[in-house]
Amino acid sequence: MALIAKRSEGGGAERLRSPRHVAIIMDGNGRWAKERGLPRTLGHRQGVEAVRQAVRTAIELNITYLTIFSFSSENWKRPIEEIDDLMGLMKRFIRRDLAELHKAGVRIRVIGERQHVDSELTSLIDEAVNLTQQNDRLILIIAFNYGSRGEIARAARRLASQVANGELEASAITVEVMANAMDTSGIPDPDLLIRTSGEMRLSNFLLWQTAYSEFVFLDCYWPDFDKAAFEGAIEEFHARERRFGGLTQRSTA
Ligand code: IPE
Ligand code: IPE
Ligand code: MG
Repeated sequence: MALIAKRSEGGGAERLRSPRHVAIIMDGNGRWAKERGLPRTLGHRQGVEAVRQAVRTAIELNITYLTIFSFSSENWKRPIEEIDDLMGLMKRFIRRDLAELHKAGVRIRVIGERQHVDSELTSLIDEAVNLTQQNDRLILIIAFNYGSRGEIARAARRLASQVANGELEASAITVEVMANAMDTSGIPDPDLLIRTSGEMRLSNFLLWQTAYSEFVFLDCYWPDFDKAAFEGAIEEFHARERRFGGLTQRSTA
C-alpha cells in the first residue's frame, strides 16, 4: 500500500497511501517543442515517453486508476496534419506497448466517442481493451476523443430513451443512476487531478467526476513530467484537507 514517505512534524517518515484514482490533463507538448525550436510533432512524441513513465510510476505507487486525457473532442479544431500525427501516435502506442502493458497487469479502458475515429484505430482500441480486461494491477483509462459535456449529453439521451420506452421512471434518475450512465461507470471519482503546462482550466475534462477532486496545477510541460513531479503532486494532495462539504475533526474539536 504505501508509497511515498512524508516528513512528519516529528521529523520521522510516515508512509502514506497513494490516491486511488489520479486523472491527468497532459498539456504542453507543443510549447515544450517550441521552446527547443522543434516541430510540435516531436513534442507529442516526447509526450508518449512521459505517458510510459507515468504508467510505470502509477504502478510503483500502487495507484489503482490512472486516467489520462489524450485527445479532446475539441482537438479536432487543430490542423489536419497535427490530428493525423496524434492519431498515428495513438496507434503506435497501442501496437508497441500493448504486450508490455498486459504483462505488467494493466487493464486498459477507453472513454470518449468512437465517432470520427478511423476503423483501424477503433479496432486497435478494441484489441487493447479485450486483451487486458482481466487485469487489475492498474486500470489505465485513456480519454480519447473525449469531452465531458458530450459524455453528459449522451448519458442524458440514454436515460431519456429508457424513460420514453417505459424502462425507467423519471423520478428514479438519481446521482448514482447518472454516474452509472457516464463513460466512467464503475470507476470511482478521481481523488487527484493534475494538469501540466501552467494552464488552470478543465478544458471539458471529467466535469461530473471531479466535483470533489483535489486539483494540482504544475508549471512543467507534459514531456518533462517525471517521477519526481508525480510524487510532488501526490505530496501536495496529502497536504490538502478534504471535507466533502462536511466538517473535519479539527473543525469540530
Ligand atoms: C497536449 O499538448 C497534447 C494534446 C492536447 C493532444 P498540446 O498539444 O496542447 O501542447 P500546447 O498546449 O500547445 O503546448
Ligand atoms: C486539453 O488540452 C486536452 C488534452 C490534454 C488532450 P488543450 O491544449 O486541448 O486545452 P486548451 O485548448 O488549452 O484549453
Ligand atoms: Mg494544450
